[in-house]
Amino acid sequence: MSFELKIDALLGRMTLVEKVGQMCQLAIFIPDLEDRIRQGHAGSIICSNSPTPGNTPQDPVLALQLNEYQRLAVEESRLGIPILFGRDVLHGYKTVGPIPLGQAATWNPEIIESVARVTACEASADGINLNFAPVIDIARDPRWGRIAEGFGEDPHLCSVLAQAAVRGYQGEDLTDPATVLACAKHFAGYGAVEGGRDYNGTEIAATTLRNIYLPPFWAAVRAGVGAIMSGFHDIGGIPMSAHRELVAGILKEEWGFEGFVISDWAAIDEMRQHGVAETRADCALISALAGLDMDMASEVYIDELAALVETNQLAEAVIDDAVRRVLRAKFRLGLFDQPYTDVKRASLHLSPDHRQVVRKAAEQSLVLLKNDGILPLAKSDLTVGVFGPLANARKTLCGAWNLDGHEDSVLSILDAVRDKVGANVEILATDLVDDALKIAPRCDVVIAVVGEGIARSGENNCITTLDLPPGHQAFLEALHAIQVPTAAIVLAGRPLALEWADRNLSAILMVWHPGTEGAKAITDTLFGDHNPSGKSPVTFPRNVGQVPLHYNHRPTGRPLPRNDRRHSRYADAPDSPLYPFGYGLSYSTFEYRNLHITVTAPRAVSISAEITNTSSTAGDEIAQLYIRDVVASISRPVKELKGFSRLSLKPGETQTVVFQLTQDDLSFYNQSGHLSFEPGLFKVWVGPDSNTGLAGQFELK
Ligand code: GLC
Repeated sequence: MSFELKIDALLGRMTLVEKVGQMCQLAIFIPDLEDRIRQGHAGSIICSNSPTPGNTPQDPVLALQLNEYQRLAVEESRLGIPILFGRDVLHGYKTVGPIPLGQAATWNPEIIESVARVTACEASADGINLNFAPVIDIARDPRWGRIAEGFGEDPHLCSVLAQAAVRGYQGEDLTDPATVLACAKHFAGYGAVEGGRDYNGTEIAATTLRNIYLPPFWAAVRAGVGAIMSGFHDIGGIPMSAHRELVAGILKEEWGFEGFVISDWAAIDEMRQHGVAETRADCALISALAGLDMDMASEVYIDELAALVETNQLAEAVIDDAVRRVLRAKFRLGLFDQPYTDVKRASLHLSPDHRQVVRKAAEQSLVLLKNDGILPLAKSDLTVGVFGPLANARKTLCGAWNLDGHEDSVLSILDAVRDKVGANVEILATDLVDDALKIAPRCDVVIAVVGEGIARSGENNCITTLDLPPGHQAFLEALHAIQVPTAAIVLAGRPLALEWADRNLSAILMVWHPGTEGAKAITDTLFGDHNPSGKSPVTFPRNVGQVPLHYNHRPTGRPLPRNDRRHSRYADAPDSPLYPFGYGLSYSTFEYRNLHITVTAPRAVSISAEITNTSSTAGDEIAQLYIRDVVASISRPVKELKGFSRLSLKPGETQTVVFQLTQDDLSFYNQSGHLSFEPGLFKVWVGPDSNTGLAGQFELK
C-alpha cells in the first residue's frame, strides 16, 4: 500500500528541526531523553541497555518502559510521530538460537526464517520494532570476531539465508504486532577488514565488491528489508559514512532501495577520526549527501543539519528524502495506528514452541568434523567422563552478541548429559583439569568440552591465532596421553585450527555457540537420537598462517594442484584447508552417482544426480552444486556454490536431486560493473562439500 500521500501531508506540516529529529536515533541512556522526545528529536531510540531483569523472563519490564517513551512521543510532542525502538537481537531474544554462523551450518532457509520469526515475536512483545539484524557480511578471515555474526564465506548461501531472515523478521505484513523491521548490516564489505582487525580499513576491488560482498545486500533489498546499516570501515580510504557511490549510488539509485540507511554507532562523527572531516558540521554534510538517512547515537545530525540547510550548504530536499524513508518505515509498521506493544505478549517469552524452534535449529547447526566410529555413544552400560573448561558453561552457549538470553533458561552440556543418560550411564565429571586426568582412566569414553568463551568471540574480539584458547589444547593433549577415546565438543564463533585434534582424537563435533537449547541438541546427537547433518559455512584452515583461505578463490597464473612446486603455495604447510567449505559428516554414509547435465535452453541448464544412503541409519544430506566459468573477461573463481538441497534418506534409499541454472546464475559482474553472461565452457560439480563430488561440464554458445 502506498503511504506517499500520508508522508507528503505529514512532511508538509513539519518544521526543519522536526524533520531532522526523524533522522536522529538517540541512545536510551542519555539524561535528557524525555525532554528530547517531547521536542521531537527522537525519530528513533536505540535500546542498547542491558536488560533490567524482571522477576521472571516473562515480566514486561522493557515493554512498559518503551510504551511510556512512546506515549511521550505520541501525546506530548507537537506532531505525535511514533518512535522506532531499535535493538540488537541477532539470533534470539529471551529464547536464543544458535549464532548466525551456526544457523548457516544448517543450510536451511526454513530454520533461519523460523528462528527470526520467534525472535521477532519476543522482541516486538517488549516494544522493539527495529532489529539490527541480519548481519550479512561475507567473512573470509576467521581472525575477525564478527565472523560469528554472519552466514559465512559464500555469497550464494549468504544471499539465500539473508532473504530467509528478512522474511522471518518482517513476515508478510509489518503491521502484524509480532514482526519487526529488519536492518541488514554492515553495508558493505565490513568482513574484509585488513588483518581481521575490527573497525580496520578494507581494500576491495570493484569486481570483488560486486561479485562477493554486495550480492547478499542485493538479495535483502529484493526481499524488502526495511533498513540497512552502513559499516564503520572504509573501502580504500572512503569511509562507508561518506561513500556516496555505494550508498546513494548503488543501494538507492541503482537498486531502488526505498528503506532507510542508518549509520553504525557514532560512525558519522567518527569521520573526524578517519581524517575525512574536520568538524561535526562537516561530518553531517558529508554523510547526508552520501545517503545516510539516520544518525545512530552521535547526535551530529540533530546538532548540525538544520544550520547547514539554513545557510544554503545543504538542500532541504536531501533532508526531505531521508525523512520520507524513515516515515515510510513507520507507516509500513503501522505505528501511527498502533504505536504501543501489548505487554501481555511478553508471556510468550521462552514458550515451549519457541524452545522447540531453536532446538531444531541447534540440532541442524552441529557439524560432525571427525568420527572414527566412537559416536553415537551407547545410552547404557557405559562410563562417560564429561570434562573441560566449558562443560558447565551456560551463558557461553548463547554466543557473544546476545543481550537478552538469561543463563537461568540454559542447560549446560554436563547437565544435559546427566538429564539424558544419567539413569543408565555412569557419568564422571569435574571442573578441575588435574582431577579429570585422575579419573579419566576409569572412563570408557571422554567428552571434552573446549573452545571459545564469549569474551573471545564477536565484536572487537579479533585474535592472532586460531588455536584453542590457552590451556584447552594442553588439556586435550593430557587426556590423549591417557589413551581414553575422546570426543571433543568445540564451542566457538569461528572456525578454529584443529589439526592436532583431527589427527589424535576420536571425534570432533563443532557446535559453534548453539543457543538456549544447544546442550540438549548436542547430547541428542552424542547419544544417537539426532543424526548430525550440518555443513560448515566457512573454510577451516590448518593454521592462521593460511588466512585468508576460502574455497571460491581465483586460480592465479599458477593454480593448484600442480606436480611442480611453482604454484601459489606455502613451503611449510599443505595447500589445502583442514576441512573445506560445505564439509560435514553424518552417522549415515551417502554415495553420489549418475550426474546428468542437460542444456534446456540457449542459456539454461538442468543438472541432476542420484544420492544413495548406503548405511543402515536414516539421515539428511545437503547436496551441493558448484560451477566454474572456465574462461571469461575477468578471472573467475575455481568454484562457486550455485545451489544446494537437503535430502532425507532412509537406509538404502536413493533420491535424485535436480538443479536448474539460469542465465543469471551463470552471470557475473564484469569490469564495468555490469551483470554479464559470457558464453563458453562451464564445469560442474555435485557433491557433499566444495572439495569432492561428481564432475561434469557443459558449453553454452
Ligand atoms: C555496534 C555494532 C552494530 C550494532 C550497533 C548498535 O557497534 O557494530 O552491529 O548494531 O553498534 O549496537
